[in-house]
Amino acid sequence: MVVVNLLETVIDLDAIATNTRILKNLVQPAQLMCVVKADGYNHGAIPVARTVLANGADQLGVATLAEALELREAGITAPILCWIWSPEQDFAAALDANIHLAVVSMAHAQAIVKYAAGKPEKLVQTTIKIDTGLHRSGVDESQWEAVFTLLKDAGTATGNIEVTGVMSHLACADEPGNPANDTQAAAFNRAIALGRKLGLELPVNHLSNSPAVLTRPDFYHEMVRPGLAVYGYSPLADGNDYGLQPAMSWVGKVTVVKPIEPGEGTSYNLTWRAAKPGYLAVIPAGYADGLPRRAQNHVEVTIGGHRYPQVGRICMDQFVIDLGDNPHNVRPGDEAIIFGPGGMSATELASRIQDINYAVICAPTGRTVRRYLGGQHA
Ligand SMILES: Cc1ncc(COP(=O)(O)O)c(C=O)c1O
Repeated sequence: MVVVNLLETVIDLDAIATNTRILKNLVQPAQLMCVVKADGYNHGAIPVARTVLANGADQLGVATLAEALELREAGITAPILCWIWSPEQDFAAALDANIHLAVVSMAHAQAIVKYAAGKPEKLVQTTIKIDTGLHRSGVDESQWEAVFTLLKDAGTATGNIEVTGVMSHLACADEPGNPANDTQAAAFNRAIALGRKLGLELPVNHLSNSPAVLTRPDFYHEMVRPGLAVYGYSPLADGNDYGLQPAMSWVGKVTVVKPIEPGEGTSYNLTWRAAKPGYLAVIPAGYADGLPRRAQNHVEVTIGGHRYPQVGRICMDQFVIDLGDNPHNVRPGDEAIIFGPGGMSATELASRIQDINYAVICAPTGRTVRRYLGGQHA
């Protein structure tokens, strides 16, 4: 039996390759760390990692230990930095696999020092993630000196700890005019100066996420850390796409086309009723697949280059669109783009449902099957 997927994310790896090259050109001579956390922003971490590394990325960034180890297990040998872990986890397995773990607190620094002391033959590379104003994770400024000193002294004693740099994360980079950006950048510079004064070399420091990469070359330091831009989107409200190409399309195949008479309703609670005779079509994507129920009345799918509004309740597994008189003869099996190139962009859908494009591209799940175009997806 031929397997026909009714709901797919189609991932264009050539778009990811193009975006990587654009970012690399923009930031050089700074290095490029591409962020592939959350399964490569839902594009598939392994194929994305291979694609970005083949197109100029120097390093990979992930959130969790499992994400880091998945890349190593796939045979990816490039430097990988992981910044969400707990000393209670089996972080030794990640260090054994040469994953760079970010130190986000004194407890994390102590855990790394203890591991390094027990493995004198192993070089342990780490980055200190400092808080410069986001007040999320990261070493608080009151602890900078203590953490820097601990790692410096332990490194001198054992000879196998290398602090490759400091990193920090911006709170408001998607608002380029927000003074918090400069305040954080100044704190970042203070931390580098303090670390160097205490004897750390800190050769590779990084602060910039996608919006800072696109708007603040003065924040580049020795490396940048974009995620969203790699996948083809900007989080800025300036309407500029910076030449980036969205890589994901979410596509459902029409399962049913049926007539409806004036006054008849569709989907749960019959919240929409036909004003005139026409046709409806059913798309097999629902809230179990990541299309939020609150998106009701905000989605327009594109079939054969024509847009059709979603009507009535979004259900668990499907939703309904209004074809009007069906002038373009939509039929079962036709592809309906829910968002992505050729249809409504993830950014447009996000603004219609008061969300952000990050969340829209991370949403497709459930029965959605991923399919790749181009690139290196072996
Ligand atoms: C620490 C860190 N660096 C970089 C990124 C990439 O951010 P963006 O997708 O905005 O480029 C993230 C994502 O949230 C992050 O948490």
